[in-house]
Amino acid sequence: MKFFVDTADVDEIKSLIPTGLVDGVTTNPSLVMKSGRDFREVVAEICDVVDGPVSAEVTAIEADAMIAEGKSLAEIANNVTVKLPLTFDGLIACKALTSDGIDTNVTLCFSANQALLAAKAGATFISPFIGRLDDINIDGMELIRDIRLIYDNYDFDTEILAASIRNANHVKDAALFGADVATVPPGVIKSLVKHPLTDKGLEAFLSDWAKTGQKIL
Ligand code: E4P
Repeated sequence: MKFFVDTADVDEIKSLIPTGLVDGVTTNPSLVMKSGRDFREVVAEICDVVDGPVSAEVTAIEADAMIAEGKSLAEIANNVTVKLPLTFDGLIACKALTSDGIDTNVTLCFSANQALLAAKAGATFISPFIGRLDDINIDGMELIRDIRLIYDNYDFDTEILAASIRNANHVKDAALFGADVATVPPGVIKSLVKHPLTDKGLEAFLSDWAKTGQKIL
């Protein structure tokens, strides 16, 4: 499973790159607002440091305007993926941009039927929002399972990008249920490495090593 980082914070992205875990980045208008940065400038900077797809979202709501914004965003760098909302106009824009060879990420997906439509429109990625479904007491992971089954039934190439990931269990379950990608906030990525038995074991090894009086270098 690929990991995208769900943030518009360039320093956070840079801190994760040496781990080799960053296969791409997703942003959205709320994350750009949080960064306090100019949208085009921050997308260009992320595209420069990340060797992988970087999602940048349109804010128009009509198909023609979405297509124009999408083409303009795609000119920022060749690893821009244009993010489009899962609306009727978003699907039209998805079809048009895909036909022009521009990668697309259809976002705000909350049902299997929506995901089916996005795949038929040629989306590169579909973004089912796990956490926001959990927030209203609907099992977000069930949606990942359903989409995986539907896409496999018909050999759709669209990749399932599990989004709105809020905790380590979401990451594990997305992997178990066959999501192609999980886009994960930096804090959650960093939490995945933690285990109390790792800390305890390391402490014991280092304490015993000190008793040997030896040095490796
Ligand atoms: C990513 O593409 C989404 O915009 C993001 O994962 C949404 O997460 P949230 O529901 O925690 O805002």
